[in-house]
Amino acid sequence: MTTATVTDNAMTCPPAACPPAACPPAAAQPAQVKVPFVDLKAQFRTLENEVLTAIADVCREARFCLGPAVEAFEARFAEYCGAAHCVAVNSGTSALHLAMRCLDIGPGDEVITVPATFVATAWAISYVGARPVFVDIDPASRTMDPQRLAAAVTPRTRAIVPVHLYGQPADMRAILRFAESRGLPVIEDAAQAHGASCDGRRVGGLGRIGCFSFYPGKNLGAFGEGGALVTNDPDIAARARALRDHGQRRRYVHEEIGYNYRMEGIQAAVLGIKLARLDAWTAARRAHAAEYTRRLAGVPGLTLPREFPDRPGVYHLFVVELDDRDAVAARLQQAGIQTGLHYPVPVHLQPAYRHLGHAAGDFPRAERLSARCLSLPMFPELTADQIDGVCRTLTDILAKRGRADRPPQPSGAD
Ligand SMILES: Cc1ncc(COP(=O)(O)O)c(C=O)c1O
Repeated sequence: MTTATVTDNAMTCPPAACPPAACPPAAAQPAQVKVPFVDLKAQFRTLENEVLTAIADVCREARFCLGPAVEAFEARFAEYCGAAHCVAVNSGTSALHLAMRCLDIGPGDEVITVPATFVATAWAISYVGARPVFVDIDPASRTMDPQRLAAAVTPRTRAIVPVHLYGQPADMRAILRFAESRGLPVIEDAAQAHGASCDGRRVGGLGRIGCFSFYPGKNLGAFGEGGALVTNDPDIAARARALRDHGQRRRYVHEEIGYNYRMEGIQAAVLGIKLARLDAWTAARRAHAAEYTRRLAGVPGLTLPREFPDRPGVYHLFVVELDDRDAVAARLQQAGIQTGLHYPVPVHLQPAYRHLGHAAGDFPRAERLSARCLSLPMFPELTADQIDGVCRTLTDILAKRGRADRPPQPSGAD
């Protein structure tokens, strides 16, 4: 039982990750309630009538690719992000790719990003023939460490791509200050952070370009694939609009090599309805995170996400860190609690990036996060009973583990 097909590339702990000898069934604690990692069906039930009506409107008008629903969503999402323009596309990966194209990044160029991200951040850099240059993360925020940027810049550096991982904004104040001092554009990977803010301004609109994913399990998720880029630069917006539609600004005049990255009308209709609820869903996620934190603070061996008052996160994921993560995930799974791993292998150690020549130890903080991260169930409709079930079961598993780790007392000791 996993949710891998409906979550944001989530991986629940596969049975093979925990061989029977390491994880006896007797150790599993039955939860009072079954807790899915994400429950998109629960969200659909709250929207069903409204969303089906909006989809029917698109069908009646037969405006399936781009069209008025997409334009309406673009206007509203740009405003939501505090940006002048939004260009809706068919995935977050496409948005990142178009961002690279719009900044004319290409072969021989370098783009700085983090290894602690979903691989698509680096794909976009590779798609245009540039080289991803990684900097390690700040372990507290799990996002780009601005202190590492100076050492990573070379004459070939063309952009910096911080990732607002798990919904936690990167330290944009420091990153933008550094980027400005070097004349470098910043592309925000905000795929996991719709509505998060830094110093009171929403992410996505802070750098030159902000990229979002609307994959179904995201905080703002379509009923299929979707993405968008936002920008204050009208030339970038116009170029991205052309590139997403086969490089044409006028029909059948293809000014440069483009793509079919158009957003579908049905997805825009769904996203428009969901956008009106996003702030309420974010408030629910933040309340769930506060409750997890209240219940789990002080549990030995468990590191919890940190809050940064000047840049509050939107908890796309609630990621704890612990040793022996795979065995704990397997025990939770046996107790009916699904978890995810985001992400078990950092990008610099992925086989696809072997050619970059990295080795284990190059980015120790990102590697430590990969080895220890465990995403607990997190979605707006999570109930108090479900949070209680997760906290009780996890606490129990860790307490038992703590007792098992303790050396036996010598006989006669008092
Ligand atoms: C940080 C990050 N960047 C980029 C992407 C790519 O978005 P999409 O799956 O919509 O292509 C994702 C999606 O999981 C992501 O989490």
